[in-house]
Amino acid sequence: MGAWNRSYEQRVERELVAGKSRGVPEAPAGGTQGHDSGGGAGGRDLRPQIPPLGLREYWYVALPASKLGKKPLYWKMLGDEMVFFRDESGEVVALSDVCPHRGASLSGGSCFYRGFLSCAYHGATFNGEGECVAFICEGPDSKAAGQLRARTYPTKTIRGWVFVWMGQGEPAPIEEDVPPEFFEQDLQIHGSYTYWPMNWMLAIENHSDSHNAFYVHRNSIQQLTSNRAGRNRTPLAPHGKIVNGRGLIAMHSNQDYYAKDGKVPYQMYYPGVKGVWPLHRWRLLWIWFFDLFRRGGYAHFKKYEEWGLGHHLPCIVRAGGGSTRYAVPVEANKCRIFYFYTSSARSWLGRLYARIRFRLVREPMVYHFSGQDNDAATPCRYWSPEYLLPTDAQVVLLRKLVVEQSRDALRNREVDVDTVRFRTAG
Ligand code: FES
Ligand SMILES: [Fe+2]
Repeated sequence: MGAWNRSYEQRVERELVAGKSRGVPEAPAGGTQGHDSGGGAGGRDLRPQIPPLGLREYWYVALPASKLGKKPLYWKMLGDEMVFFRDESGEVVALSDVCPHRGASLSGGSCFYRGFLSCAYHGATFNGEGECVAFICEGPDSKAAGQLRARTYPTKTIRGWVFVWMGQGEPAPIEEDVPPEFFEQDLQIHGSYTYWPMNWMLAIENHSDSHNAFYVHRNSIQQLTSNRAGRNRTPLAPHGKIVNGRGLIAMHSNQDYYAKDGKVPYQMYYPGVKGVWPLHRWRLLWIWFFDLFRRGGYAHFKKYEEWGLGHHLPCIVRAGGGSTRYAVPVEANKCRIFYFYTSSARSWLGRLYARIRFRLVREPMVYHFSGQDNDAATPCRYWSPEYLLPTDAQVVLLRKLVVEQSRDALRNREVDVDTVRFRTAG
Protein backbone atom coordinates (compact mmCIF):
# COMPACT_ATOMS: atom_id res chain seq x y z
CA MET A 1 0.00 0.00 0.00
CA GLY A 2 1.10 3.50 -0.61
CA ALA A 3 2.05 5.88 2.14
CA TRP A 4 -1.39 7.50 1.85
CA ASN A 5 -3.20 4.25 2.58
CA ARG A 6 -2.20 2.90 5.98
CA SER A 7 -4.71 0.00 6.15
CA TYR A 8 -2.02 -2.70 5.97
CA GLU A 9 0.05 -1.09 8.71
CA GLN A 10 -3.04 -0.55 10.83
CA ARG A 11 -4.02 -4.20 10.49
CA VAL A 12 -0.53 -5.35 11.51
CA GLU A 13 -0.62 -3.02 14.49
CA ARG A 14 -4.05 -4.31 15.53
CA GLU A 15 -2.65 -7.85 15.35
CA LEU A 16 0.29 -6.83 17.50
CA VAL A 17 -2.07 -5.38 20.11
CA ALA A 18 -4.24 -8.52 20.02
CA GLY A 19 -1.16 -10.69 20.51
CA LYS A 20 0.14 -8.77 23.54
CA SER A 21 1.79 -11.06 26.09
CA ARG A 22 -0.10 -11.63 29.34
CA GLY A 23 -0.80 -14.10 32.10
CA VAL A 24 1.27 -16.89 33.53
CA PRO A 25 2.61 -19.57 31.19
CA GLU A 26 4.96 -17.64 28.98
CA ALA A 27 7.57 -17.19 31.71
CA PRO A 28 10.95 -17.05 30.02
CA ALA A 29 13.19 -20.00 30.86
CA GLY A 30 15.66 -18.94 33.54
CA GLY A 31 14.15 -15.50 33.17
CA THR A 32 13.06 -12.92 35.59
CA GLN A 33 11.35 -14.99 38.24
CA GLY A 34 12.76 -15.12 41.70
CA HIS A 35 13.98 -11.53 41.79
CA ASP A 36 13.67 -9.37 44.86
CA SER A 37 10.59 -7.21 44.90
CA GLY A 38 11.41 -3.60 45.57
CA GLY A 39 9.85 -0.72 47.35
CA GLY A 40 9.62 -1.94 50.90
CA ALA A 41 6.54 -4.18 50.74
CA GLY A 42 8.16 -7.10 49.06
CA GLY A 43 10.87 -9.55 49.90
CA ARG A 44 11.17 -12.84 48.08
CA ASP A 45 9.08 -13.18 44.94
CA LEU A 46 6.49 -15.82 45.80
CA ARG A 47 4.75 -15.91 42.43
CA PRO A 48 6.67 -18.92 41.07
CA GLN A 49 5.32 -20.98 43.99
CA ILE A 50 1.69 -20.14 43.36
CA PRO A 51 -0.02 -23.01 41.48
CA PRO A 52 -1.31 -21.60 38.16
CA LEU A 53 -4.28 -23.97 38.30
CA GLY A 54 -5.18 -23.13 41.86
CA LEU A 55 -5.04 -24.71 45.29
CA ARG A 56 -6.37 -28.25 45.33
CA GLU A 57 -7.25 -29.07 48.93
CA TYR A 58 -10.42 -26.97 49.09
CA TRP A 59 -14.11 -26.93 48.44
CA TYR A 60 -14.91 -24.77 45.40
CA VAL A 61 -18.18 -23.45 44.10
CA ALA A 62 -18.76 -25.14 40.73
CA LEU A 63 -22.10 -24.13 39.24
CA PRO A 64 -25.76 -23.45 39.98
CA ALA A 65 -27.59 -26.77 40.40
CA SER A 66 -30.33 -25.43 38.12
CA LYS A 67 -27.90 -25.80 35.22
CA LEU A 68 -28.26 -29.57 35.43
CA GLY A 69 -31.16 -30.99 33.48
CA LYS A 70 -31.44 -34.52 32.13
CA LYS A 71 -28.24 -34.34 30.11
CA PRO A 72 -24.72 -34.70 31.51
CA LEU A 73 -22.74 -31.46 31.60
CA TYR A 74 -19.08 -30.98 30.68
CA TRP A 75 -17.35 -28.64 33.12
CA LYS A 76 -13.74 -27.64 33.63
CA MET A 77 -12.21 -26.59 36.93
CA LEU A 78 -8.59 -26.32 38.05
CA GLY A 79 -7.60 -27.78 34.68
CA ASP A 80 -9.63 -30.96 35.36
CA GLU A 81 -12.17 -32.09 32.79
CA MET A 82 -15.29 -33.15 34.63
CA VAL A 83 -18.82 -34.27 33.98
CA PHE A 84 -21.79 -33.40 36.18
CA PHE A 85 -25.09 -35.27 36.26
CA ARG A 86 -27.85 -36.18 38.72
CA ASP A 87 -27.69 -39.47 40.59
CA GLU A 88 -30.65 -41.69 41.54
CA SER A 89 -31.63 -39.44 44.42
CA GLY A 90 -31.50 -36.35 42.19
CA GLU A 91 -28.30 -35.01 43.79
CA VAL A 92 -25.76 -33.37 41.48
CA VAL A 93 -22.60 -35.50 41.32
CA ALA A 94 -19.28 -35.11 39.51
CA LEU A 95 -16.99 -37.58 37.78
CA SER A 96 -13.88 -37.18 35.69
CA ASP A 97 -14.93 -36.67 32.08
CA VAL A 98 -12.33 -39.25 31.02
CA CYS A 99 -13.96 -42.67 30.71
CA PRO A 100 -11.79 -45.22 32.54
CA HIS A 101 -12.33 -47.74 29.73
CA ARG A 102 -10.63 -46.08 26.79
CA GLY A 103 -10.75 -42.40 27.60
CA ALA A 104 -13.87 -41.26 25.74
CA SER A 105 -15.68 -38.16 26.96
CA LEU A 106 -18.37 -39.16 29.44
CA SER A 107 -20.16 -35.86 29.00
CA GLY A 108 -20.74 -36.89 25.37
CA GLY A 109 -22.77 -39.83 26.69
CA SER A 110 -26.34 -39.98 27.92
CA CYS A 111 -28.39 -40.65 31.02
CA PHE A 112 -30.53 -43.39 29.45
CA TYR A 113 -31.38 -44.73 32.91
CA ARG A 114 -32.39 -42.20 35.56
CA GLY A 115 -29.43 -41.55 37.86
CA PHE A 116 -26.84 -43.33 35.67
CA LEU A 117 -24.47 -42.00 33.03
CA SER A 118 -23.57 -44.14 29.98
CA CYS A 119 -20.41 -43.47 27.99
CA ALA A 120 -21.02 -42.64 24.33
CA TYR A 121 -18.42 -45.11 23.06
CA HIS A 122 -19.06 -48.62 24.47
CA GLY A 123 -21.78 -47.87 26.95
CA ALA A 124 -19.94 -48.19 30.25
CA THR A 125 -22.63 -47.01 32.65
CA PHE A 126 -21.74 -45.34 35.96
CA ASN A 127 -23.67 -44.49 39.08
CA GLY A 128 -23.11 -41.38 41.18
CA GLU A 129 -20.29 -43.08 43.07
CA GLY A 130 -18.38 -43.68 39.87
CA GLU A 131 -19.00 -47.45 39.89
CA CYS A 132 -19.57 -49.10 36.55
CA VAL A 133 -22.88 -50.94 36.96
CA ALA A 134 -23.34 -52.09 33.35
CA PHE A 135 -21.30 -52.29 30.15
CA ILE A 136 -23.82 -52.18 27.38
CA CYS A 137 -21.61 -53.36 24.50
CA GLU A 138 -20.55 -56.53 26.37
CA GLY A 139 -24.01 -57.44 27.58
CA PRO A 140 -25.31 -58.19 31.08
CA ASP A 141 -22.44 -60.59 31.96
CA SER A 142 -19.66 -58.04 31.35
CA LYS A 143 -16.94 -58.15 33.98
CA ALA A 144 -16.59 -54.38 33.75
CA ALA A 145 -19.66 -54.05 35.96
CA GLY A 146 -18.37 -53.99 39.50
CA GLN A 147 -14.74 -53.57 38.44
CA LEU A 148 -14.42 -50.41 36.35
CA ARG A 149 -14.44 -47.16 38.31
CA ALA A 150 -14.53 -43.54 37.23
CA ARG A 151 -12.79 -40.90 39.29
CA THR A 152 -15.29 -39.08 41.49
CA TYR A 153 -15.30 -35.66 43.09
CA PRO A 154 -17.23 -35.20 46.35
CA THR A 155 -20.04 -32.67 45.86
CA LYS A 156 -22.51 -30.88 48.07
CA THR A 157 -25.38 -28.67 46.96
CA ILE A 158 -26.04 -25.77 49.29
CA ARG A 159 -28.76 -23.21 48.67
CA GLY A 160 -28.90 -24.15 44.98
CA TRP A 161 -25.15 -23.99 44.37
CA VAL A 162 -22.99 -27.06 43.80
CA PHE A 163 -19.69 -27.17 45.70
CA VAL A 164 -16.94 -29.62 44.83
CA TRP A 165 -13.99 -30.95 46.82
CA MET A 166 -10.99 -30.79 44.48
CA GLY A 167 -8.42 -32.23 46.89
CA GLN A 168 -6.68 -35.55 47.05
CA GLY A 169 -7.21 -36.24 50.71
CA GLU A 170 -10.34 -36.53 52.83
CA PRO A 171 -12.56 -33.48 52.33
CA ALA A 172 -12.11 -30.77 54.94
CA PRO A 173 -15.25 -29.58 56.80
CA ILE A 174 -17.12 -27.62 54.15
CA GLU A 175 -17.95 -24.85 56.65
CA GLU A 176 -14.26 -23.91 56.65
CA ASP A 177 -14.30 -23.07 52.93
CA VAL A 178 -17.78 -21.82 52.12
CA PRO A 179 -18.97 -18.36 53.24
CA PRO A 180 -21.07 -18.63 56.42
CA GLU A 181 -24.15 -17.00 54.92
CA PHE A 182 -24.71 -20.15 52.84
CA PHE A 183 -25.53 -21.93 56.11
CA GLU A 184 -27.82 -19.24 57.48
CA GLN A 185 -31.32 -20.15 56.46
CA ASP A 186 -32.79 -16.72 57.14
CA LEU A 187 -30.54 -15.13 54.51
CA GLN A 188 -31.33 -15.33 50.82
CA ILE A 189 -28.43 -16.01 48.48
CA HIS A 190 -28.27 -14.32 45.09
CA GLY A 191 -25.56 -15.41 42.70
CA SER A 192 -24.29 -15.13 39.19
CA TYR A 193 -21.15 -16.05 37.25
CA THR A 194 -19.02 -15.02 34.29
CA TYR A 195 -15.49 -15.64 32.94
CA TRP A 196 -12.33 -13.57 33.02
CA PRO A 197 -9.43 -14.39 30.69
CA MET A 198 -6.81 -14.22 33.43
CA ASN A 199 -5.12 -16.32 36.06
CA TRP A 200 -7.14 -16.86 39.25
CA MET A 201 -4.51 -15.24 41.45
CA LEU A 202 -4.44 -12.07 39.38
CA ALA A 203 -8.21 -12.02 39.63
CA ILE A 204 -8.11 -11.88 43.41
CA GLU A 205 -4.95 -9.83 43.80
CA ASN A 206 -6.70 -6.85 42.28
CA HIS A 207 -8.67 -6.49 45.50
CA SER A 208 -7.02 -4.70 48.42
CA ASP A 209 -4.14 -3.37 46.35
CA SER A 210 -3.49 0.31 45.84
CA HIS A 211 -7.13 1.35 46.19
CA ASN A 212 -7.88 1.07 42.49
CA ALA A 213 -11.58 1.72 43.05
CA PHE A 214 -10.86 5.41 43.04
CA TYR A 215 -9.06 5.16 39.72
CA VAL A 216 -10.07 2.12 37.65
CA HIS A 217 -13.73 2.38 38.60
CA ARG A 218 -14.11 6.13 38.50
CA ASN A 219 -16.85 5.91 35.89
CA SER A 220 -18.58 2.77 37.09
CA ILE A 221 -22.22 3.05 38.05
CA GLN A 222 -21.40 1.44 41.38
CA GLN A 223 -18.75 4.04 42.12
CA LEU A 224 -20.88 6.96 41.08
CA THR A 225 -23.64 5.76 43.34
CA SER A 226 -21.32 5.15 46.26
CA ASN A 227 -21.05 7.47 49.22
CA ARG A 228 -17.29 7.33 49.13
CA ALA A 229 -14.96 7.43 46.20
CA GLY A 230 -13.23 4.19 47.10
CA ARG A 231 -10.60 3.87 49.80
CA ASN A 232 -8.55 6.97 50.38
CA ARG A 233 -5.31 7.48 48.60
CA THR A 234 -2.30 6.88 50.82
CA PRO A 235 1.32 5.99 50.17
CA LEU A 236 1.40 3.85 53.32
CA ALA A 237 0.68 0.16 53.77
CA PRO A 238 -2.97 -0.64 54.48
CA HIS A 239 -2.01 -3.67 56.65
CA GLY A 240 -3.80 -6.98 56.84
CA LYS A 241 -4.29 -9.81 59.26
CA ILE A 242 -4.27 -13.54 58.55
CA VAL A 243 -6.98 -15.34 60.52
CA ASN A 244 -7.06 -19.14 61.06
CA GLY A 245 -4.73 -19.67 58.11
CA ARG A 246 -7.68 -19.12 55.77
CA GLY A 247 -8.79 -15.50 55.87
CA LEU A 248 -6.82 -12.35 55.15
CA ILE A 249 -8.61 -9.40 56.61
CA ALA A 250 -7.96 -5.91 55.26
CA MET A 251 -7.32 -3.42 58.05
CA HIS A 252 -7.54 -0.35 55.76
CA SER A 253 -5.17 1.53 58.02
CA ASN A 254 -3.37 4.78 57.18
CA GLN A 255 -6.39 6.14 55.40
CA ASP A 256 -5.94 9.66 56.78
CA TYR A 257 -2.47 10.33 55.44
CA TYR A 258 -3.64 13.20 53.24
CA ALA A 259 -6.40 14.38 55.59
CA LYS A 260 -6.77 18.08 56.23
CA ASP A 261 -8.99 19.03 59.15
CA GLY A 262 -10.02 15.38 59.41
CA LYS A 263 -11.08 15.07 55.76
CA VAL A 264 -9.17 13.73 52.78
CA PRO A 265 -9.61 16.17 49.89
CA TYR A 266 -11.44 14.85 46.85
CA GLN A 267 -9.00 16.42 44.39
CA MET A 268 -5.26 16.43 45.06
CA TYR A 269 -2.45 18.18 43.24
CA TYR A 270 0.31 16.08 41.62
CA PRO A 271 3.31 18.39 41.07
CA GLY A 272 4.99 16.00 38.59
CA VAL A 273 2.20 16.59 36.08
CA LYS A 274 1.15 20.00 37.37
CA GLY A 275 -2.43 18.83 37.62
CA VAL A 276 -5.06 17.44 39.95
CA TRP A 277 -6.74 14.04 40.21
CA PRO A 278 -9.56 13.46 39.62
CA LEU A 279 -9.48 15.82 36.66
CA HIS A 280 -13.08 16.92 37.24
CA ARG A 281 -15.49 17.33 40.13
CA TRP A 282 -18.77 16.44 38.38
CA ARG A 283 -18.81 12.93 39.86
CA LEU A 284 -19.40 14.44 43.29
CA LEU A 285 -22.87 15.43 42.14
CA TRP A 286 -23.78 11.82 41.41
CA ILE A 287 -22.35 10.65 44.69
CA TRP A 288 -24.32 13.32 46.56
CA PHE A 289 -27.51 12.43 44.67
CA PHE A 290 -27.35 8.69 45.31
CA ASP A 291 -26.40 9.27 48.92
CA LEU A 292 -29.96 10.42 49.43
CA PHE A 293 -31.14 6.83 48.84
CA ARG A 294 -28.44 5.02 50.72
CA ARG A 295 -29.33 2.21 53.09
CA GLY A 296 -28.44 -1.32 54.00
CA GLY A 297 -25.15 -2.85 54.95
CA TYR A 298 -23.43 -6.13 55.24
CA ALA A 299 -23.44 -7.00 58.90
CA HIS A 300 -22.98 -10.69 58.18
CA PHE A 301 -19.42 -9.94 57.02
CA LYS A 302 -18.60 -8.82 60.53
CA LYS A 303 -19.94 -11.89 62.29
CA TYR A 304 -16.90 -14.09 61.75
CA GLU A 305 -13.50 -12.46 61.71
CA GLU A 306 -11.97 -14.72 59.06
CA TRP A 307 -14.87 -13.91 56.70
CA GLY A 308 -14.55 -10.13 56.99
CA LEU A 309 -13.59 -7.71 54.21
CA GLY A 310 -10.54 -9.00 52.39
CA HIS A 311 -9.69 -12.47 51.11
CA HIS A 312 -10.43 -16.05 52.01
CA LEU A 313 -8.90 -19.23 50.66
CA PRO A 314 -9.10 -20.81 48.21
CA CYS A 315 -9.94 -17.87 45.89
CA ILE A 316 -12.55 -15.67 47.53
CA VAL A 317 -12.78 -11.90 47.78
CA ARG A 318 -15.06 -10.32 50.36
CA ALA A 319 -15.68 -6.87 48.97
CA GLY A 320 -17.39 -3.72 50.17
CA GLY A 321 -21.14 -3.59 49.70
CA GLY A 322 -21.50 -7.17 50.89
CA SER A 323 -20.40 -8.87 47.70
CA THR A 324 -18.50 -12.15 47.70
CA ARG A 325 -16.47 -12.91 44.62
CA TYR A 326 -14.91 -16.24 43.73
CA ALA A 327 -12.23 -16.58 41.03
CA VAL A 328 -12.30 -20.32 40.38
CA PRO A 329 -9.42 -21.42 38.15
CA VAL A 330 -10.56 -23.07 34.92
CA GLU A 331 -7.31 -22.96 32.98
CA ALA A 332 -4.05 -21.17 33.69
CA ASN A 333 -5.34 -17.98 32.06
CA LYS A 334 -9.05 -18.36 32.52
CA CYS A 335 -11.16 -18.22 35.65
CA ARG A 336 -14.83 -18.44 36.45
CA ILE A 337 -15.96 -15.43 38.43
CA PHE A 338 -18.90 -15.93 40.79
CA TYR A 339 -20.68 -13.09 42.53
CA PHE A 340 -22.83 -13.66 45.59
CA TYR A 341 -25.01 -11.26 47.53
CA THR A 342 -27.38 -11.85 50.40
CA SER A 343 -30.66 -10.34 51.44
CA SER A 344 -32.68 -10.90 54.58
CA ALA A 345 -36.30 -10.14 53.72
CA ARG A 346 -38.82 -12.16 55.77
CA SER A 347 -41.95 -11.88 53.62
CA TRP A 348 -42.29 -13.49 50.21
CA LEU A 349 -42.89 -10.05 48.71
CA GLY A 350 -39.64 -8.78 50.21
CA ARG A 351 -37.80 -11.82 48.91
CA LEU A 352 -39.26 -11.31 45.45
CA TYR A 353 -38.23 -7.65 45.51
CA ALA A 354 -34.67 -8.64 46.57
CA ARG A 355 -34.50 -11.15 43.72
CA ILE A 356 -35.64 -8.66 41.13
CA ARG A 357 -33.34 -6.01 42.54
CA PHE A 358 -30.39 -8.37 42.28
CA ARG A 359 -31.10 -9.22 38.64
CA LEU A 360 -31.96 -5.69 37.48
CA VAL A 361 -29.65 -3.55 39.60
CA ARG A 362 -26.95 -5.42 41.52
CA GLU A 363 -25.93 -7.88 38.83
CA PRO A 364 -25.46 -5.35 35.99
CA MET A 365 -23.68 -3.01 38.38
CA VAL A 366 -21.23 -5.57 39.65
CA TYR A 367 -20.57 -6.88 36.13
CA HIS A 368 -19.78 -3.37 35.00
CA PHE A 369 -17.62 -2.57 38.02
CA SER A 370 -15.77 -5.87 38.03
CA GLY A 371 -15.43 -5.83 34.25
CA GLN A 372 -13.20 -2.82 34.72
CA ASP A 373 -10.93 -4.89 36.99
CA ASN A 374 -10.90 -7.52 34.29
CA ASP A 375 -9.79 -4.97 31.68
CA ALA A 376 -7.13 -3.54 33.94
CA ALA A 377 -5.67 -6.75 35.37
CA THR A 378 -5.93 -9.20 32.45
CA PRO A 379 -2.94 -7.73 30.58
CA CYS A 380 -0.67 -8.21 33.63
CA ARG A 381 2.46 -10.25 32.96
CA TYR A 382 2.64 -12.52 35.93
CA TRP A 383 6.28 -13.37 35.34
CA SER A 384 7.68 -9.88 34.82
CA PRO A 385 9.76 -8.18 37.51
CA GLU A 386 7.59 -6.22 39.91
CA TYR A 387 8.31 -3.13 41.91
CA LEU A 388 6.04 -3.62 44.85
CA LEU A 389 5.01 -0.56 46.83
CA PRO A 390 3.89 -0.24 50.43
CA THR A 391 0.27 -0.25 49.25
CA ASP A 392 0.90 -3.72 47.77
CA ALA A 393 1.41 -5.09 51.29
CA GLN A 394 -1.93 -6.88 51.19
CA VAL A 395 -0.97 -8.58 47.93
CA VAL A 396 2.27 -9.79 49.50
CA LEU A 397 0.37 -11.15 52.51
CA LEU A 398 -2.10 -12.91 50.24
CA ARG A 399 0.73 -14.63 48.39
CA LYS A 400 2.24 -15.67 51.71
CA LEU A 401 -1.07 -17.09 52.85
CA VAL A 402 -1.33 -19.17 49.65
CA VAL A 403 2.28 -20.31 49.58
CA GLU A 404 2.90 -20.86 53.28
CA GLN A 405 -0.38 -21.50 55.08
CA SER A 406 -2.79 -23.06 52.61
CA ARG A 407 -3.70 -26.74 52.99
CA ASP A 408 -1.70 -27.44 49.84
CA ALA A 409 1.37 -25.82 51.37
CA LEU A 410 0.93 -27.82 54.59
CA ARG A 411 0.41 -31.03 52.60
CA ASN A 412 3.50 -30.38 50.45
CA ARG A 413 5.53 -29.79 53.58
CA GLU A 414 4.35 -33.13 55.00
CA VAL A 415 5.26 -34.85 51.74
CA ASP A 416 8.72 -33.26 51.86
CA VAL A 417 9.25 -34.45 55.42
CA ASP A 418 8.10 -37.96 54.47
CA THR A 419 10.45 -37.99 51.48
CA VAL A 420 13.37 -37.00 53.71
CA ARG A 421 12.39 -39.72 56.21
CA PHE A 422 12.15 -42.27 53.41
CA ARG A 423 15.54 -41.25 52.01
CA THR A 424 17.12 -41.39 55.45
CA ALA A 425 15.63 -44.83 56.10
CA GLY A 426 16.76 -46.02 52.64
S1 FES B 1 -14.41 -45.50 26.22
FE1 FES B 1 -16.11 -45.33 27.49
S2 FES B 1 -17.06 -47.21 27.33
FE2 FES B 1 -15.35 -47.43 26.07
FE1 LIG C 1 -10.95 -2.91 41.24
